[in-house]
Amino acid sequence: MKIGVFDSGIGGLSVLKSLYNSKLFEKIIYYGDTARVPYGTKDKDTIIKFCLEALEFFKQHKVDFLVIACNTASAYALDALRQNCSFPIFGVIEAGINETKKQIKDKNKKILVIATKATIDSKEYQKRLTLEGFTQIQALATGLFVPLVEEGIFEREVLNSVFNYYFKDIQNPDALILACTHFPFLSNPLENYFENNIKLIHSGDSMVEFLKNHYTLKIYKETKIEFYASSNVDYLKFIAKKWLNF
Ligand code: DGL
Repeated sequence: MKIGVFDSGIGGLSVLKSLYNSKLFEKIIYYGDTARVPYGTKDKDTIIKFCLEALEFFKQHKVDFLVIACNTASAYALDALRQNCSFPIFGVIEAGINETKKQIKDKNKKILVIATKATIDSKEYQKRLTLEGFTQIQALATGLFVPLVEEGIFEREVLNSVFNYYFKDIQNPDALILACTHFPFLSNPLENYFENNIKLIHSGDSMVEFLKNHYTLKIYKETKIEFYASSNVDYLKFIAKKWLNF
């Protein structure tokens, strides 16, 4: 089974990592739109246009289905993408909501969604969580986390001052939805920061669970990955090696 993974840039490697570690896929084609990242600061029409252009790439590579690793793209472009191709397309938001339902049984638990500005503005997470019956939802755009991860800045001092800035008015949440591809790389510092057995919902792991429910998948000895990018593919490969421990 050949699957495509699309992201606005390198952040989708967090989703790729989960897919790769699951060993459930024979071949993964990863494409990052590194020439035009970030999507999280752009408007709806621009995001849809970029995603439709990326779709042509996956059509040429004849993938069996496509995973939209990018939350921002999943929030705005899923309908347009699905209307323009014949293979199944899965976005991370639905997967993340399913995982939240699975992990958080008490609908009155405090849920905090963190994401790019565009994802938060789309209200996709907030609407879907409300429909599922969750009563205490907060949503926060934490855009600065993206360049921190891109720059590989993980020093506790720097991160904690950024966390203090964003979370100053947030009361300890019970669950944190990491609704941006980059944020799983901050899982440990975030867990340490909140100190209250907070449950972290990770897009990549949620996507693996979601796909397991959709397909009968077998275990492969090895998953082959091909990397493509609209700019500087060597950097993408370098980071992938580092983050995925190839
Ligand atoms: N991949 C994006 C997301 O998950 C984050 C980076 C961007 O803004 O493009 O929302």
